[in-house]
Amino acid sequence: MKSIHGGNIVSVARTLGCNTADLLDLSSNLTPFGMAPGLKEMLISNLEQISFLPEAGSETLCRVFAEKYGLQPDEVLAGNGTTEFIFALPTAFHTKKALLVNPTYSDYQVACSWAGVDSEDFFLTREEGFQLNFERLATRLTGGELVFICNPNNPTSVLIPTARLHDFIRQQPKSIFIVDESYLPFTSEPSLLDLDLPENLFLLCSSSKIYGIPGLRLGFLVARKKNLARFSDRNKPWGVNSMAQIGGEFLLQNADPYVHEVRSYIAEQRPKVIQALMQLPQVEVIEGAANFILCYLGGRMRAPELAEKMLQKRIMIRNCDSFTGLDDRYFRISLKDEAGNRRCLEALKQIMGDNL
Ligand SMILES: Cc1ncc(COP(=O)(O)O)c(C=O)c1O
Repeated sequence: MKSIHGGNIVSVARTLGCNTADLLDLSSNLTPFGMAPGLKEMLISNLEQISFLPEAGSETLCRVFAEKYGLQPDEVLAGNGTTEFIFALPTAFHTKKALLVNPTYSDYQVACSWAGVDSEDFFLTREEGFQLNFERLATRLTGGELVFICNPNNPTSVLIPTARLHDFIRQQPKSIFIVDESYLPFTSEPSLLDLDLPENLFLLCSSSKIYGIPGLRLGFLVARKKNLARFSDRNKPWGVNSMAQIGGEFLLQNADPYVHEVRSYIAEQRPKVIQALMQLPQVEVIEGAANFILCYLGGRMRAPELAEKMLQKRIMIRNCDSFTGLDDRYFRISLKDEAGNRRCLEALKQIMGDNL
């Protein structure tokens, strides 16, 4: 089983024979404003640090994260993106079963398969607006399984109220919940970090999307101390490079105003873009909350063809036919700056108009 992702802008540019700067990438879900301000200068002025070993366990960075969110330092681990933990978690438990709330981020399934963990699908449906039905989910839990929940969910963008999720996790103490909040900072919903940590929760917090640093590779895993011990004992040394440690510390201490700016921009742009998408004759929009929008094509055209036609206009969108539980009628776009959103909407309008 292989990982499939959007945002492979370098290889797309190579195939099209253009520069990455010529492409408008709406296929990955990064902040529309690029890297958080001040970070570049901070990294450049610390470049000489790569001549030394970074802290083996990112202790300073974990302490800064813990202080910011009112945790103990031994309740936090830093890794090479949350991807490191997505792949480490299924190998760390004796349990050999997992439940995936699909459609969702496909690496959960890949990670389970690589670890020899049997994963079952719990399907969300378009008829239910891809909302998580907790009663139905409860009937599928037998105890001991890993349950992956992405909130808000990629690719649907659907948000679960944090308090409701927190209650559910506590009501199911025999299951182990892995909650991925990679896209939560784009919404105004509080994080599970703001509530007490249930014993059976592992929380993933990515720095890639909200701070615009997917290439720096930094993510955090938060859990109760005794749960994290199984990882910290085996955590490989120097898993987070010096630049990511320095940059991460800087962002945690300085980037809140930037995060708020991104959040208000998304709250303002989302309804505008959705309204424009709904004017398109064949498009149904799935109601969500994050910095990306899932759409359903009700007409003749399918997502692979649409993605190809958009690419001819140097615009990358995500054909969602590789997500378990979706098919070739679904595509996803992320929100960009206003000019980018306009360019995408105009291209969609033109392509769909030509194919009526
Ligand atoms: C839901 C979700 N979780 C995790 C990741 C991986 O992020 P990171 O860069 O923190 O490894 C992605 C990347 O696309 C994602 O969409």
